[in-house]
Amino acid sequence: MYKVLVSDPISDLGLQQLTEASDVEIVKQAGLSEDELVSIIGQFDALLVRSQTKVTRRIMEAGTNLKVIGRAGVGVDNIDLEAATSLGIVVINAPDGNTITTCEHTFAMMMALARHIPQAYKKTVGGEWDRKSFVGVELRNKTLGVLGLGRIGSEVAKRAIAFGMKVLGYDPFMTEERAEKVGIKLASVDEIIRNADFMTVHTPLTSETHHMIAGPQFEVMKKGMRIVNCARGGIIDEYALVEAIDQGIVHGAAFDVFEHEPPAEDHPFLKHPKIIVTPHLGASTVEAQENVAIDVAEQVIHILRNEPFKNA
Ligand code: NAD
Ligand code: MLT
Repeated sequence: MYKVLVSDPISDLGLQQLTEASDVEIVKQAGLSEDELVSIIGQFDALLVRSQTKVTRRIMEAGTNLKVIGRAGVGVDNIDLEAATSLGIVVINAPDGNTITTCEHTFAMMMALARHIPQAYKKTVGGEWDRKSFVGVELRNKTLGVLGLGRIGSEVAKRAIAFGMKVLGYDPFMTEERAEKVGIKLASVDEIIRNADFMTVHTPLTSETHHMIAGPQFEVMKKGMRIVNCARGGIIDEYALVEAIDQGIVHGAAFDVFEHEPPAEDHPFLKHPKIIVTPHLGASTVEAQENVAIDVAEQVIHILRNEPFKNA
């Protein structure tokens, strides 16, 4: 019998293949501390997580039977990959299942930002009928800068073009030919920050992308830019962004992700009138959660049974 621990909330429907397998026993226990995980992980052959569980070297070292860690989502930055490699534990993710959902959330955030929807909602339900404070802007004829033209970034670009926006994109791995096919004009980060009206980031968080938009970039940024981050906290320097908004360089921002999640109660984004936030909801739709759970469940079963599998 293979024992699988699911330590974050993951779609039941998506996990069906595992729950129905006669050679698999599933244990669901969300919200465990590192110590609690260390004390129980030794019994398990596989660990399934979303982004809340931080899979540290300590946990993996205690996982003496652990063969595979499945991440129901894209980013594997909550898993110590170096430790997994050195301990011979396979790490798999589900890179495609939440692309459209996250792209749609990005678009929702961009539109909410353009039209002040959260701020207007708050005032209206508070009993104020304020039509003057919330004059927005159209997306049509505006320039959108997209940093990172992978799965999500490319889908965002396609939708932006459908809205009549001009799209400038930067991605070191995107060819001119592929960009042209979608209707994206390739540009440098510098060109984007000097020319875009809206900017959205869709890169992973790496040592190169950490604070890729920070003080020096805000200094030369087109005045009035609106910025969206539904990728990873830390790509944009949060404190430099607040300063840029307060100086009138950036008009406003919409963030789904934070450098530390959940953010501290006194985080400057949380009370700022020009910043809208959601609690890492980018991938949170019924469809995406089913998709990613199905993908990891399928791969985990193959790995446990020593059968060929898709990604690692
Ligand atoms: P992806 O791997 O398909 O695309 C990432 C792209 O970033 C790649 O094309 C890569 O070439 C590019 N890139 C890497 N370094 C770069 C750099 N220095 N400058 C510019 N581009 C660079 O990934 P994806 O599925 O599109 O996901 C994008 C991001 O969104 C990831 O950080 C992922 O973790 C995050 N994400 C967040 C949510 C959420 O809930 N908010 C959901 C899904 C994905
Ligand atoms: C991801 O990288 O897939 C996202 O962070 C989505 C998530 O699992 O919440």
